[in-house]
Amino acid sequence: MKPKYQKIAVPLRHEIKLQTIMNIKSIITAAMALPVWWGTYPQVMFTFFKKHANDLKGKTVIPFTTHEGSGLANCVDDVKAAFPGANVQKGFCIYGHEVRTEKGKVEKWINGLKK
Ligand SMILES: Cc1cc2nc3c(=O)[nH]c(=O)nc-3n(C[C@H](O)[C@H](O)[C@H](O)COP(=O)(O)O)c2cc1C
Repeated sequence: MKPKYQKIAVPLRHEIKLQTIMNIKSIITAAMALPVWWGTYPQVMFTFFKKHANDLKGKTVIPFTTHEGSGLANCVDDVKAAFPGANVQKGFCIYGHEVRTEKGKVEKWINGLKK
């Protein structure tokens, strides 16, 4: 994580109580679709990452962000660090303000993944 973001984001990191909503080990491909906050995924997600650090070994993980200028920011590197042994893809990002108007960009990306 870049120092500027580390200074802002890491102090915001709190442990949260996680509820298990599914068997994560049954996942084949995981899309991490979240907004960029302070240069990475929202800090609350890092509790989830820590809990499941070893559950995505050999699985494909696709970082996907909405943002307002940072693109994928540090998300790809942070996901690679969080899930050693996962096949982390290069990812996809879209401006948050384009989400409702640029559906075609998302469809094009998804169709590209199927190939
Ligand atoms: C606390 C906070 C931090 C943010 N930090 C960044 C950032 O570092 N880089 C960036 O491009 N956008 C940043 N944003 C903008 C969000 O990424 C953007 O609002 C979001 O992707 C759009 O989703 P929303 O419509 O749910 O807000 C930040 C937004 C918030 C609320």
